[in-house]
Amino acid sequence: MEYSLKIKGQAALVTGANSGIGEAVAIALGEQGANVVVNYVTHPELAQQVVDKIKSTGGNAIAIKADVSNEAEVQAMFQQMFAEYGTIDILVNNAGLQKDSPIENMSLADWQLVINVNLTGQFLCAREAIREFLRRGVVAERSCAAGKIICMSSVHQVIPWAGHVNYAASKGGIEMMMKSMAQELAPKKIRINSIGPGAIQTPINQSAWGDPDSLKKLLTLIPYGRIGQPEDIGKVAVWLASDQSDYLTGTTLFVDGGMLLYPGFSTNG
Ligand code: BGC
Repeated sequence: MEYSLKIKGQAALVTGANSGIGEAVAIALGEQGANVVVNYVTHPELAQQVVDKIKSTGGNAIAIKADVSNEAEVQAMFQQMFAEYGTIDILVNNAGLQKDSPIENMSLADWQLVINVNLTGQFLCAREAIREFLRRGVVAERSCAAGKIICMSSVHQVIPWAGHVNYAASKGGIEMMMKSMAQELAPKKIRINSIGPGAIQTPINQSAWGDPDSLKKLLTLIPYGRIGQPEDIGKVAVWLASDQSDYLTGTTLFVDGGMLLYPGFSTNG
């Protein structure tokens, strides 16, 4: 059976794509022939490396700087994308950060920064993408859907996380934002889903895998026995953006090596 993802020529925007999970998703979409916008806010040289990598595999990509929590910058980024690629078919709402601290020491600034980037940033980008999806509608040669949005969530939309209250709250918020948008827009043939990664080896959680002791402790939380790689998420994102997953909307796919299986209960409870 021919198994084609048919993403070639679709326009994709990946936020926070100059490192970690976003980078892997951008590269995976590029490998499938999508025209990729590599969004970044700091380190343009890293964004350029991702663009070069996509081009070296025969794909198209451009880097666009925008802080996803800034409405004007988000709108300018979409305008630049439309000027370059004409439209948007796939939005991967990936940009996110952590500012960890015990709740009693958590500053309002750190609370707001995490909510603004992780949650409000996804809202602002989704809104611009949805406006274009509604304007354009379904174009059968491109996709069965009028547009696809993938929200990068986390196992922490389910697992409470001491010392990371702002981050866990942002991810819990993403779940209901994603589901409510999916409910509202399914009749318009717009599909909106999330990916909930577990521990993926990226700069955001280096303290959890950077030395042998921490890694050993981390692996007790992962039944599958290995830390995730950014490519594990890239592959799932490509499938979720393709018509192969056309009947999925409003769902979170957890890609976590079984972290959500409560491994602590395998020998106790
Ligand atoms: C966090 C990582 C963490 C993982 C599993 C992710 O959402 O960003 O720091 O390792 O969840 O706990």
